[in-house]
Amino acid sequence: MSKKIALSGVKPTGVPHIGNYFGAMKQFVEMQDNYHFYAMIADYHALNFIQDKKEMKKNTYNLLLDYLAIGLDPKKTVIFKQSDVSAHTELAWIFDTITTMPYLMRAHAFKDAEAKNKEICVGTFNYPMLMSADILLYEPDIVPVGKDQKQHVEIARDTALKFNNIFGDTFKLPEPMMIKDMDTVLGTDGKKMSKSYGNTIPLFAEYEEIKKCVMSIVTDSSSGIPENVYAIHKLFRSASELLPLYESKAGKYKELKELLVEDLEKFIAPMRERRKELAKNEAEVLKILEEGSKKAKEVADKKLNEIKSNLGVK
Ligand code: ADP
Ligand code: TRP
Repeated sequence: MSKKIALSGVKPTGVPHIGNYFGAMKQFVEMQDNYHFYAMIADYHALNFIQDKKEMKKNTYNLLLDYLAIGLDPKKTVIFKQSDVSAHTELAWIFDTITTMPYLMRAHAFKDAEAKNKEICVGTFNYPMLMSADILLYEPDIVPVGKDQKQHVEIARDTALKFNNIFGDTFKLPEPMMIKDMDTVLGTDGKKMSKSYGNTIPLFAEYEEIKKCVMSIVTDSSSGIPENVYAIHKLFRSASELLPLYESKAGKYKELKELLVEDLEKFIAPMRERRKELAKNEAEVLKILEEGSKKAKEVADKKLNEIKSNLGVK
């Protein structure tokens, strides 16, 4: 029996943190043995946020290194860049023509953006159409994403259904897949860990940086157990192991933070070192992306041909 297909993507918008890893990227590595997996660098999505040539180049290369350093294996996974496969933007246009504005106005990301900024660009509004195209071109069975992306995958499903109803059976309906029992990872201030809040622990942090981040965790717990330290620590050890430890060291925040630093270092160091090794060989790393994009393009172009034929434009 042939393997099922999975696809996901990350925007190259900055340095990844452990929240991105535990909330989304971790499952990429776990699934590459059992699925035919596509890992995309969503650079055209990032264009909504990054409008600077140098930064875009740097971020894209960095995300490629990140993918490889967390353990994605180009022999098993197709690692590719969205902008290398023009079928994505072409299909996004086609989807625009069958989608209403009120429908897109209900998307969480749009509502959040609107709440912050009255003059949203069309790219932000249309974001879910490009994401639907990213997904549907590859006919994945599942799309592993963080919780906040679930609605986007549902929009892709709705869009596939709508297209199938109008133009005949063309798309398979994908399912979102979330890491089970995975809560939002909290940052050093106890709020959701996010690049935009400056409360992150970078996924490839050096030892000194880990120390600095952990020491800055806000500890105003009255129970003796520093909740914000515990919330991060539980990513690395089970509650049955951690609770007695935290109870025996109640009130000793510094010691508990030092323990967390050591656990973080144990977890981060191997990936960080792998990333450094990879970075020594830029040409080889870029070749991986070139080959991945070539493979993705073959699959996407074939699907786009079928779509165009169903539209009557071929
Ligand atoms: P950020 O908020 O840091 O900008 P992104 O929006 O780029 O992160 O998220 C990339 C992926 O990482 C998404 O799939 C998202 O669900 C996941 N993610 C981001 N922050 C967290 C978090 N604190 N906990 C769990 N998952 C997260
Ligand atoms: N929107 C996703 C995010 O912000 C990134 C993304 C773009 C994606 N295209 C995708 C994820 C297709 C899964 C499938 O994290």
